[in-house]
Amino acid sequence: MKAIVTGGAGFIGSHVVDRLVSDGYSVTVIDNMTCGTLENLKQHKDNPKVKVYNTDIRDAEALNKIFAGHDAVFHLAAQANIRKSAVDHKSDLDNNLVGTINILEAMITNKINDLIFASSSAIYGEATLRPTPEDYMPIQTSLYGASKLACEAYAEVFTQFSPINFWAYRFSNIIGERCRRGVIWDFVQKLQKNPKELEILGDGKQSKEYLSVQDTVEGIMTGYQKAHARVNLFNLAIEENSIVDEIADIVIKEMKLKNVKRKYSGGQRGWIGDNPLVHLSINRIKSLGWTPKISSKDAITTTARWTINLSKS
Ligand SMILES: NC(=O)c1ccc[n+]([C@@H]2O[C@H](COP(=O)([O-])OP(=O)(O)OC[C@H]3O[C@@H](n4cnc5c(N)ncnc54)[C@H](O)[C@@H]3O)[C@@H](O)[C@H]2O)c1
Repeated sequence: MKAIVTGGAGFIGSHVVDRLVSDGYSVTVIDNMTCGTLENLKQHKDNPKVKVYNTDIRDAEALNKIFAGHDAVFHLAAQANIRKSAVDHKSDLDNNLVGTINILEAMITNKINDLIFASSSAIYGEATLRPTPEDYMPIQTSLYGASKLACEAYAEVFTQFSPINFWAYRFSNIIGERCRRGVIWDFVQKLQKNPKELEILGDGKQSKEYLSVQDTVEGIMTGYQKAHARVNLFNLAIEENSIVDEIADIVIKEMKLKNVKRKYSGGQRGWIGDNPLVHLSINRIKSLGWTPKISSKDAITTTARWTINLSKS
C-alpha cells in the first residue's frame, strides 16, 4: 500500500508517518515546511520507502503529479493556528479549504479513493451540549473551525459524485513529543525566559481534553480499518478534562521551579475562538474497540519533559 501524508513533517503527521511505515506502507510526505521540519522525520532519513516533497497543497499541479500511484491520502496539512486566522482572514480559506479541494480533485484524477482527514473539535464552537456528539449542529466561533467544517462538507459532497470515501477525525487537544505549539509549549518558552513569572492567557480555568498523539494515531487507524461507510465522522478525545492551571503546575514541577508568580491576562478565553470548555463524546470511536491508553496527566508530563529537553539538546 502507498499512502500520502500531507503535513507529514508536522507534529501529528510525523507520528502518522511512523505508524504507516511500521504497518508496511510506502509513504509520500507533502509538506510546505511552514511549521513542519525534517527533524520530525529524521528516523526515516535512510528509508527508501519514505519520500518527502517540500510542496504546498495550494499548488494543484504539483499535487497531481505526486499523487499518481497511491492508494490513500492522510490529510493533515493545515494552517492550524486559531489566533493567526483571527487577523489573517483568508489564511484558513486558502491553506485549509482550497488546499483540501485541490487534494480531492487530485484524488479523482489519480483514482485514489480513501481520504483520511484531520478535523478539529474547533468545529463545535462553544457547544452547549456536552459531551458533544458528532451530530451536534454547531455555531462557529473561529475561522479555523469554520474552515475545518467546510473541508468536511466539501469532502462529503465529493463522496456523492466520485468514488472517494471519507474519514474525518475531530481532534481534541493533541499532545506529545514533537508538539511545538499550544499551552505546554507556550508555558515552557515563557518560563525559560522568565522563571519567576508565568503569564497565563485567560483565567487559567479553561478545561479541555488532552489526548496523547500515540492514542490519536491508534484512533485514526482504528476508524480507517473498521468503519466502512462512505462518510465516517469521529470525535477523538479522552474522557478526562484538564484545567490550564493544573497544566501550569505540572510544567512548573517538571522545570523544578519554585515560587512562580502567575499573571492572568483575564477573561474566560485565552484568545478569540478559544473554547473554555471542551468535552466531546467518544462513544462512536469507542464502539470500534478504541480507547485511550495514556492518561492526560501522563501525556502532559511527557510533553512537558520533551519540550524542556528540546532546549537542552
Ligand atoms: N494538535 C492539535 O491539538 C490539533 C487539534 C485539532 C486539529 N488538529 C489538526 O491536525 C493536523 C495536524 O496538526 P499539528 O498539530 O500536527 O500541526 P502542525 O502545524 O505541526 O502540522 C501541520 C503541518 O502542515 C504543514 N502545512 C501547513 N500548511 C501547508 C500547506 N499549505 N501545504 C503543505 N503543508 C502545509 C505544516 O508545515 C505542518 O508541518 C492539522 O490539520 C490540524 O488542524 C490538530
